Amino acid sequence: MGPRRKAGPFPWEEEAGPVKSLFGKLADGTKVHRWSLENGGTRLKVLNWGGVVQGLEIPDRHGHYTNVALGFDNIDDYVAKTPYFGALIGRYGNRIAKGQFTLDGKSYQLSVNDGVNSLHGGKQGFDKHIWDVEPFAKGSDVGLVLHYTSIDGEMGYPGTLKAKVTYTLTRHGDWIIDYEATTDKATVVNLTSHVYWNLAGEGSGTVEDHELTIAAGRYTPTDTGLIPTGELAKVSGTPFDFRKTKTIGRDIRDGHVQQVQAKGYDHNWVLDKGITSKPEHVATLREPRSGRTLKIATDQPGLQFYSGNFLDGTLTGTGGRTYRQGDALCLETQHFPDAPNHPNFPSTVLRPGQTYRTRTVHTFGA
Ligand code: GLA
Repeated sequence: MGPRRKAGPFPWEEEAGPVKSLFGKLADGTKVHRWSLENGGTRLKVLNWGGVVQGLEIPDRHGHYTNVALGFDNIDDYVAKTPYFGALIGRYGNRIAKGQFTLDGKSYQLSVNDGVNSLHGGKQGFDKHIWDVEPFAKGSDVGLVLHYTSIDGEMGYPGTLKAKVTYTLTRHGDWIIDYEATTDKATVVNLTSHVYWNLAGEGSGTVEDHELTIAAGRYTPTDTGLIPTGELAKVSGTPFDFRKTKTIGRDIRDGHVQQVQAKGYDHNWVLDKGITSKPEHVATLREPRSGRTLKIATDQPGLQFYSGNFLDGTLTGTGGRTYRQGDALCLETQHFPDAPNHPNFPSTVLRPGQTYRTRTVHTFGA
């Protein structure tokens, strides 16, 4: 398919609409496609496998484009060894203790894939499925609509969950993610996106010099299995205080028991603004040499900041460089981990007749 938009008098009308190409094949022959789209100076590459953001290019302050999202250049690596690079996460982002929860008096056992716990939807989460992808161009926006239907009982979750995720690139180059889901039985849902950011470019080394701000006075401490204890602990006086901008590396070797346990940061920040009807700005990431910035706005109550602790030099990425510990970070907007087992956390229950709807906006600058 060729470009969908004609060149016009406005800069954004010169941008190309989504273009589809063959990325590879699964073992059973299923074709994996890659969609490329560009608008307002942001270039996005998306796979129908897991809705994976395979590349995201933005300019630095001199206009030089770099891919700032970790990924692979081939489908086999995504299937065999990805730590959720760029993927859509469902049905439940982050961990559910022992993969168990009770809803309306019924107990459920989910697929367990992280020690005794269920992580990111279980063994075959939303990141490991082919999604239906439809391109669109609407007004000055271009984007993709992704659909996946998870059948009743998949990975142990009750209800048929119909998920729809829309990736929009605006004429300002913002990347917006809209998540929607409906169910035919009461269930729990917590969708998110697992992009690994390195604003100096994927494969360029550590993100310890990236500056981060998170508008959160509390976070959810975890046990050794990274399951929240249920406490909403104050960040003040701890390495978890990102209310004032600081580098990721500044306090990462502080020796705080929560960090030692997680091998760095791998926690949910309790956003001061709480759940909001519209996305509000919650975090800013800046890479000082390139000047690139990423601002995140969300309607969600939580943000998982993961400092790439499990990257260990065994994966080689898109540009042929090896990813080592701390070579990227994730900022996952979400409800809190293990919320189904913590009545004091905002509820993740979705019932028939309701529509789960949430939006996260990524704004880039340099
Ligand atoms: C999330 C989790 C981390 C880790 C990564 C993937 O961010 O919180 O503990 O599992 O995904 O490796």
